[in-house]
Amino acid sequence: MESLLTNVDHVAIAVHDLEAAISWYRETFDATIVHREVVETDGVREALIKVGDAYIQLLTPLRADSPVAVFLERRGEGLHHVGYRVADCAQALAMATARGARAIDQVPRPGSRGTTIAFIHPSASFGTLIELVQE
Ligand code: CO
Repeated sequence: MESLLTNVDHVAIAVHDLEAAISWYRETFDATIVHREVVETDGVREALIKVGDAYIQLLTPLRADSPVAVFLERRGEGLHHVGYRVADCAQALAMATARGARAIDQVPRPGSRGTTIAFIHPSASFGTLIELVQE
């Protein structure tokens, strides 16, 4: 069987200061920001750096009650989640949960860049918050 995961879409990193993180990636790696977006529903501001076919997604909270704010408070800055590209988010989510993955999103929803996404809980996936991303 073909893997449900077709590519790494992005690696998301939670930071306190988005502009400082952007500057660091720019100055350290000559990285360029290819996209910025405020995702109100998730309470985050993000900036994407293209790396090959994938992105580094720098994330910072918009407000104190956003999940990323809670994460920063508990765990500090660092790796927040991994986004994997899938051909069909609804199908991948259904298949993964049928095989024991624990869905956070019961149905796919809009993500940034016009994508369709669903999150899988880290408690049943070896500690990694996983995002399924359909372009
Ligand atoms: Co993401």
